[in-house]
Amino acid sequence: MISTDFGPNEKGRDALLAFSLLFQPWRWRRGKELYNLKRRLKSKFFSLDTHISLFLTGRGALYQYLRSLNLAQDDEVLVQAFTCEAVVLPILDLGFTPVYVDITEQDYSIDVTDLKKKCSPKCKVLILQHTFGITPNDRLKILQFATQQKLHVIEDVAHGFDQDVFKNKRFTGAVLMSFGRSKLFSSVFGGAIATRAERVGKIMKEAERQLPNPSTWFLLQLIFYKILVVVIYGLYHIAIGKMLHFLFKQCNLIVPEVTPREKRGKFDTLMLKTYPNVAAIFMLEQLDRFNDVYQRRKAISTIYYYGLEPKQFSTYQYALNRFPYITKHRDEIQAFARKYNIYLGNWYTQVVAPKELDLMDVGYKSGSCPKAEKLSTCTLNLPTHISVTESEGILQIVNKARQLTL
Ligand SMILES: Cc1ncc(COP(=O)(O)O)c(C=O)c1O
Repeated sequence: MISTDFGPNEKGRDALLAFSLLFQPWRWRRGKELYNLKRRLKSKFFSLDTHISLFLTGRGALYQYLRSLNLAQDDEVLVQAFTCEAVVLPILDLGFTPVYVDITEQDYSIDVTDLKKKCSPKCKVLILQHTFGITPNDRLKILQFATQQKLHVIEDVAHGFDQDVFKNKRFTGAVLMSFGRSKLFSSVFGGAIATRAERVGKIMKEAERQLPNPSTWFLLQLIFYKILVVVIYGLYHIAIGKMLHFLFKQCNLIVPEVTPREKRGKFDTLMLKTYPNVAAIFMLEQLDRFNDVYQRRKAISTIYYYGLEPKQFSTYQYALNRFPYITKHRDEIQAFARKYNIYLGNWYTQVVAPKELDLMDVGYKSGSCPKAEKLSTCTLNLPTHISVTESEGILQIVNKARQLTL
């Protein structure tokens, strides 16, 4: 079985580590790994004078950061359409207004012309998303515009990012990371804010200290996830894996990425908690092999770029979390691939995902971002965490499914 959504980052080593941690509950909440993780993130992706704060989720990190900016109620936050509720719900819950900006087909990121049109004096923050891990083509132009307009910039790299982009102090504002299970690396849940601003760094540190801890049951679910995913993958080919997956979900052993409250358009404080030490231990393990994973994702993205018909845009030079394939036959290709136990992703199926969300609840006006609306009807995601042979198999399946539907 191959899946873009289900535990793409988990390996036998993660399951063994999780199993051993089941018997060391004193390491679950606090421990030296929290400190070590911050140090590793700084040295690997940023600079040593960067402040890193860790939270249970990326959306919790974003919530705390927005709160630290002391904005007035009704201030506006520029955010791209083709995003997810995790970005928009913190904005709304804090009483700010999201202003949706359209994107370009080339990089799934903010369109500068639309940004300039929609930016008003009420806009105080700009969230610049690196969708799928693609560095926005107009990143420098956008950052320059933000400086002119005195906007706080948050570069949202939850999906993934070019690992050299923030080195050598080349960022202002903040960088939002996610360590959620379907991202570039995973501690099942997790998020961080990196900033070089001293004052905000201190406020974020205080926020980290004051938040409540996740419950013991939640921590157990987090540890179990790492074990269950590997068991399910191992047994999928003999149908038992599928049954186990269903069973574990029914028994509430697998925590969903999006809660029912979030699907109803409300921020969920369940996601606003401290980052536990056990998750830091998982992340350090993931970072140990990050270079290999990164190179693999880059290589597979290149294979898709050259092998897909029709040709896609030049996004192949990045280590993409998922490769976006634009096709009007998305549903047919997904259904065809499922016959081979290949589960292709569909980030995103509407301008603010998931599809259960009522767009009126998140302040999106239909027709205001036509390119994002179009792309959300025809973007299929191909996995990049797999082997070369598997990616060639996927290419054959996708190209065959496309021919059958033509
Ligand atoms: C673009 C984007 N930003 C931020 C987040 C928040 O990450 P998390 O799931 O850790 O809350 C997500 C989550 O999927 C996301 O897709």
